[in-house]
Amino acid sequence: MSSESSSLSFLPGAGAGSSAVALYARETAGFEARLAKSVELLREAVATYGAGLIQSTSLGAEDMVITDLIARHGLAVDVATLDTGKLHAQTLALLPQIESRLGLQVAVFKPVDEQVIHFVRTNGEKAMYESLALRKACCAVRKLEPLSRMLAGRTAWITGLRREQSANRAEVPFSEPDGQGRTKLNVLAEWSWNDVWFYLDKFDVPYNLLHDQFMPSIGCEPCTRAIAVGEDFRAGRWWWEDENAKECGLHKAHSNEELKTGAHA
Ligand code: ADX
Ligand code: SF4
Repeated sequence: MSSESSSLSFLPGAGAGSSAVALYARETAGFEARLAKSVELLREAVATYGAGLIQSTSLGAEDMVITDLIARHGLAVDVATLDTGKLHAQTLALLPQIESRLGLQVAVFKPVDEQVIHFVRTNGEKAMYESLALRKACCAVRKLEPLSRMLAGRTAWITGLRREQSANRAEVPFSEPDGQGRTKLNVLAEWSWNDVWFYLDKFDVPYNLLHDQFMPSIGCEPCTRAIAVGEDFRAGRWWWEDENAKECGLHKAHSNEELKTGAHA
């Protein structure tokens, strides 16, 4: 955990509408070293995995840092996102900006229409609030199945997971097996929230405008809310659930069969 804890970043006095840059962009000791380390990890990954490497971006702040690093350092890394069909317009608005400002095309993976229609017909539009099993089943259809296609043929994927994001993530390593024979590279594992915003500001990187509305962690629209002063970084994700449940399964090891069928839920 960095010295700047995630909940400490949301201090009283932050007025509504304050920009995330104004609130959080701060250079702290060791930033340049953490930045250099991340670039080194990305270069090593390109050398090791070549075309097997992909960045999985949620289009959140951390992932925008990584996409910018890929573009800025001319690294040969494909970039892809999962469009669940439930993302905010502000999230999707980043896709053309990444193309025009960073010069990179983001591949978009969507769920299978029939599976979504079947799920909604059977369980309703608000199924995610009814039970953990239904919420996870929705994530399976909208995220995990497209993830399995995104990662098909890949040997390594880059994520924006950081240790500071939650207690569950406090031990996130720079590199780990994903449970399906691939390597997951968490190149910002050591970064603080202040680092992320210092970078986005310094390099004028486009970011999701919902971050300016107290949404530090952004997922699907029905499952994301703004956080209140003093709340934890991920308090706005699946806020009605128990603290330990708050993962969608992207970062848990599942067998290929489970990923295809959503049977893990
Ligand atoms: S989640 O598991 O709770 O949804 P979170 O939003 O913190 O994850 O994001 C962690 C990392 O998971 C991101 O940095 C990104 O690598 C990946 N990720 C999350 N959502 C998506 C998405 N919609 N598309 C692609 N990658 C994603
Ligand atoms: Fe469904 Fe919510 Fe999971 Fe998105 S985050 S896939 S809307 S349950």
